[in-house]
Amino acid sequence: MSDLAVLGGTPIRTEPYPNWPVFDERDIQAISEVIRSGRWGGYPYPGPQTEEFARLFAEMQGGGYAVPMANGTVTMEVALRAMNIGWGDEVIVPAYTFQATAAAVMSAGAIPVIVDVDFETYCIDPKAAEAAITPHTKGIIPVHLGAEMADMDAIKDLAERNNLVVVEDCAHAHGAKWRGNGAGTIGHFGSFSLQSSKTLTTGEGGILLCRTPDLAARAASLIDCGRPHDEAGTLFTLGANYRMTELQAALGIIGLDRFPEQAKQREILAAYMDEALSELPGVRILKRDARHTTRSFYQYIFAIDPKIFKAKHDIVCYALEKEGIPCDVGYEAMHHYELFQPILSRLPVPSAFPAYFEFDKMSFPIAEQASEEEAVWLDESIFRGGQKGVDDVILALKKILANTDDLVNAVMNFQNH
Ligand SMILES: Cc1ncc(COP(=O)(O)O)c(C=O)c1O
Repeated sequence: MSDLAVLGGTPIRTEPYPNWPVFDERDIQAISEVIRSGRWGGYPYPGPQTEEFARLFAEMQGGGYAVPMANGTVTMEVALRAMNIGWGDEVIVPAYTFQATAAAVMSAGAIPVIVDVDFETYCIDPKAAEAAITPHTKGIIPVHLGAEMADMDAIKDLAERNNLVVVEDCAHAHGAKWRGNGAGTIGHFGSFSLQSSKTLTTGEGGILLCRTPDLAARAASLIDCGRPHDEAGTLFTLGANYRMTELQAALGIIGLDRFPEQAKQREILAAYMDEALSELPGVRILKRDARHTTRSFYQYIFAIDPKIFKAKHDIVCYALEKEGIPCDVGYEAMHHYELFQPILSRLPVPSAFPAYFEFDKMSFPIAEQASEEEAVWLDESIFRGGQKGVDDVILALKKILANTDDLVNAVMNFQNH
């Protein structure tokens, strides 16, 4: 019998990693107060909790005018619409991200133009983005993925030279900083998801950082059924109800209070993880860019070398899970995404511009390599498991590396699981 838990051996870890989200009496108290106040919803916008949450969030992120919303997808749609980006305009998105990044573009009526990602960060490749620019390109959405940030120097330069609107997708990057500037404050907009799995969560929710008060007023109007939110009270844009509720905002305020300590612990343990993983054969950690001055950890992503492991990432992940380590193979490449087949869905944008959606003609080698062979995504709960939480990951990987010949047999189990 093999030592590997996937083949019946004893797992490295049996204790589950801590659950997310964490909460205490303060959350219960805050929610109870909102319930008693009778002011539950988001209308009139913003309510007192929402206003306070917006102020505190912008303060933590170090800038911008924050507009809390229903989720971290409409935030991007609203950002584009606030800049009048819409029908037939092209917006560049990376090939390795959650489908929402491209779906939001289509909801705004624009066309997502997919480009490949960088080998060292898995974030958008600025050179590939540059090559995709046409006279119709109006915007770009760099995604700060996992624990990385896109090269915002290159993106900013590219955007300025080509007059593009930059919407940073910061769904994974709460608290992150580039050259000391908060993620989401470098582009025109920063879009944050506050959905349950995110490192700052309100259950569901999103928040958009806008560069100017004028953009924030336009965004607020768009999410509040078009009501005016500028000082003169004249702005009225066709909008919908994408408001955040007071209940959500109350959770956000408490979450923000807890956030700095959690972020610090993740950063310290991730540095320790980097060092340990760097010593393992067949493991490639992603880039630690000196310009990325504060790192945040939604997911800790690394790459395996399938030749050394004698298996691809799905088998390695399966083996890791059986050793008690929660992990995932991450996203599909955008053009292979099962969720992202809009050509089949009769959505207006793909129906009107089918030439942009011929996925079988597209090739994004780095995103494909990440999504089909090498990327391993570790849940941030690893870090809330303390040093032992990280040590168990290293031990599990070492064990798998010492038994790679057995992984071939694990493939059979995997196929039947
Ligand atoms: C990169 C990225 N962008 C956008 C979103 C969308 O966020 P939401 O689920 O809050 O709409 C997510 C959510 O998982 C995400 O991971």
